[in-house]
Amino acid sequence: MSKKDQIDKNKLPKHIAIIMDGNGRWAKGFGKFRIFGHHNGVTAVRDTAEAAAEIGIKFITLYAFSTENWSRPKKEVDALMELLVDTIRKETPTLQKNNIKLASIGNMNDLPAKCQIQLQETINATKNNNGLTMVLALSYSAKWDMVNAIKSIATQVKNNEITIDDVNDQLIDKHLSTSEMPHPELMIRTSGEQRISNFLLWELAYAELYFTSKLWPDFSKEDLYDAIYDYQQRERRFGKTSEQLNSN
Ligand code: IPE
Ligand code: IPE
Ligand code: MG
Repeated sequence: MSKKDQIDKNKLPKHIAIIMDGNGRWAKGFGKFRIFGHHNGVTAVRDTAEAAAEIGIKFITLYAFSTENWSRPKKEVDALMELLVDTIRKETPTLQKNNIKLASIGNMNDLPAKCQIQLQETINATKNNNGLTMVLALSYSAKWDMVNAIKSIATQVKNNEITIDDVNDQLIDKHLSTSEMPHPELMIRTSGEQRISNFLLWELAYAELYFTSKLWPDFSKEDLYDAIYDYQQRERRFGKTSEQLNSN
């Protein structure tokens, strides 16, 4: 039986964040260049998005390229940017078919112009879709986002638009690039690495973390269902005791 049938549809996470890791190692396993792994990772993106849309998840955020990834060899960075443009263009009909809205977070100004243009085109084309929102984190890092948020809050204080006492959790949420979405309840990382790598540090404060040794190109719909099922077996206590949670 598929795990899909065992998932409680009333207890779905609204937002799943995914660190898609292991493309390079996957390619190496076939004796190929790293970019071969990135190309094959696209199928996993399509399957994951489709599975999430089918089951009724509202948001998935996919870590596709980090601020730190700019330090990779130029050849790999260029190939990744090419792949990004190509994939977004080719996948636009699939997004439409599945009622998926595309969004992005990160420092878009850093991306090559044709990436920015293609991204904007598909974001516009899918803006009225109201199923799943698929957020691509591109040239993104949580520290970059937090620095921007702090600067913008400091500017408001300086201009007397708010006072220091107005600074709280909710205000910080509003100034982050994720302000339009709920915080992820579940964070999945593939490839066996167990770290956050500068991803959504603020938003993952109380997320359930799920690590799998599967390499990203091998990640399937069934793997997503497994992760959601696993998440649903956990007790999310938010500082309370188990007895408190079970007393009502
Ligand atoms: C994740 O796979 C994709 C990106 C970071 C763009 P990697 O390229 O990090 O693959 P590994 O971790 O080296 O195997
Ligand atoms: C994290 O993967 C970034 C993305 C998946 C885009 P990395 O492979 O770059 O992470 P580290 O450097 O090994 O932590
Ligand atoms: Mg990696």
